Amino acid sequence: MYTATGKQSQHGFDNAAPEAPEQLSLLSEILNRHTFGVLTDLGVGHGWRCWDIGAGDGSVARWMAARVGMTGHVVASDLKPDHVPGHPRIETIQHDITGDPWPEPEFDLIHARLVLMHLADREELAVRLAAHLRPGGALVLTDWYCGCATEGVVASPVDAYTERVCRLYHDAVHVLSGKTGMDMVWASRTAGVLRAAGHTDVSVEDYQAPGQGGTPTARLARLHSVMLEPYLVSQTDLTVDDLAVIRENLLDPEFEMVTNHTYTTVLRAPK
Ligand SMILES: C[S@@+](CC[C@H](N)C(=O)[O-])C[C@H]1O[C@@H](n2cnc3c(N)ncnc32)[C@H](O)[C@@H]1O
Repeated sequence: MYTATGKQSQHGFDNAAPEAPEQLSLLSEILNRHTFGVLTDLGVGHGWRCWDIGAGDGSVARWMAARVGMTGHVVASDLKPDHVPGHPRIETIQHDITGDPWPEPEFDLIHARLVLMHLADREELAVRLAAHLRPGGALVLTDWYCGCATEGVVASPVDAYTERVCRLYHDAVHVLSGKTGMDMVWASRTAGVLRAAGHTDVSVEDYQAPGQGGTPTARLARLHSVMLEPYLVSQTDLTVDDLAVIRENLLDPEFEMVTNHTYTTVLRAPK
């Protein structure tokens, strides 16, 4: 992601950015209910050893810690783990999943949400993570699938001008994300990569958050328009006035943006 200065960070998100706490909190608002449902269905419970990779604001790690109880253990790792609050059953580590030695021993649950799509070695990492599970353990990988909005980016009736500036904004963010090395369709390929590595118990869940103005997804798009403003007004046809119109719409409940799906790939290791 690009920072307010227009400077590209090394990875998709920079937790040192002043907007990061709000950004991470909005991601949790958008996705935690779905994530917790998937993890509940897997039976995460007492005594489980869990690893949350790219833990962000730590809310998924905290949910895990509540579930695993006194006999379980949770590792929350992140390149910049500053936003993971302290918790007696969470071991928070500053850790680069692409280069640092991985925590041992193996895990009952490994979870990475909105992380692998940003990383160049995503295929190899997914396969290595599956091999880092205990027998019967679960790997849960969630990423945005950003291949959907080819026909329209606004779902509600709007005038041609609003449609045009929303399309310009959508496409500019798409192009920028591609420049950071993000794979927009990795989410739809994850299961295939794991099956090709020999795993048979692999399934995919699709979730699309609502996109009405004022929802967390719309507020995240609004926040990104602020963070990216220097780039957008210097490198695209969007003006400061256009961005003001986009932001106004993103708070209007009558407006509805087309949101990205997330695909959650769930792998169970053989017992
Ligand atoms: C888009 S945020 C997602 C945060 C959280 N997983 C969520 O879904 O709310 C991506 C997170 O991955 C972390 N991250 C990026 N590259 C990483 C790496 N190579 N190793 C570990 N964490 C990384 C970032 O610092 C950030 O906290």
